[in-house]
Amino acid sequence: MRRALAAANWKMHGSIEAISQYCSALEVGSGPVDVAIFVPAVFLNATAGILPEGAVAGIQDIGVAETGAHTGEIAAEMAREMGAVWSIVGHSERRQDQQESDELIGQKAAAAFRGGLRPIVCVGETLEERRRGDETAVVGRQLEAVLAAVSAGDLAGGAIGYEPVWAIGTGETATPEQAQAMHAFIRSLLAEKDAEAAQQTPIVYGGSVKPENAVELFGQADIDGGLVGGASLDAGQFSAIIAAAADSA
Ligand code: 13P
Repeated sequence: MRRALAAANWKMHGSIEAISQYCSALEVGSGPVDVAIFVPAVFLNATAGILPEGAVAGIQDIGVAETGAHTGEIAAEMAREMGAVWSIVGHSERRQDQQESDELIGQKAAAAFRGGLRPIVCVGETLEERRRGDETAVVGRQLEAVLAAVSAGDLAGGAIGYEPVWAIGTGETATPEQAQAMHAFIRSLLAEKDAEAAQQTPIVYGGSVKPENAVELFGQADIDGGLVGGASLDAGQFSAIIAAAADSA
């Protein structure tokens, strides 16, 4: 049975003060759900030390290299030493802002495993791509690039985040049917490589998840929890989302 995953992506928000208040207020519960909090990397070590039991820290991105002349980059192993358990790779904001390619994201997923982190590999189409009817082609291409670098068996030790770009920070959520269809498609691609691994891989949805829509989204057969931006900044809201993920598992 797959465990659910509730992930809070703080993006470029927060301060030591805000994180410390958040950690005191967060209610993780004891359900069958992995809880990961992704703060800006500079706060990682402090956060890992004060998270409530049952929650772990993650880094929002990693470099491909393990060491060397790469100013500003952080290796997976370094993040692990600072307390990270997970790493997001391939978030659409990095695909857009830093022009990260599908191939680079595959390399980052491999680097995460090499350095002892569990990657959440993000995929998702833009509004224009969905309007053209290209959403499965785009997500398929993004996932194939990752599967060229990492085996489906290894990927089962991480997670996939389906985040339609048009639903991120817009208040517009994919309908449960739209999200379920894409999650089932993603799982079918994984199953082509490794049927057992496909069943074990958590596939989480991201894009305007809130306590009000989490129950229905997470109730879909192939939606194993959420990767949450805006609503994850509020301890009360994210605690409710964790509970919804636990109930759905
Ligand atoms: P929002 O929940 O703010 O739409 O962000 C989703 C996201 O990008 C999480 O990684």
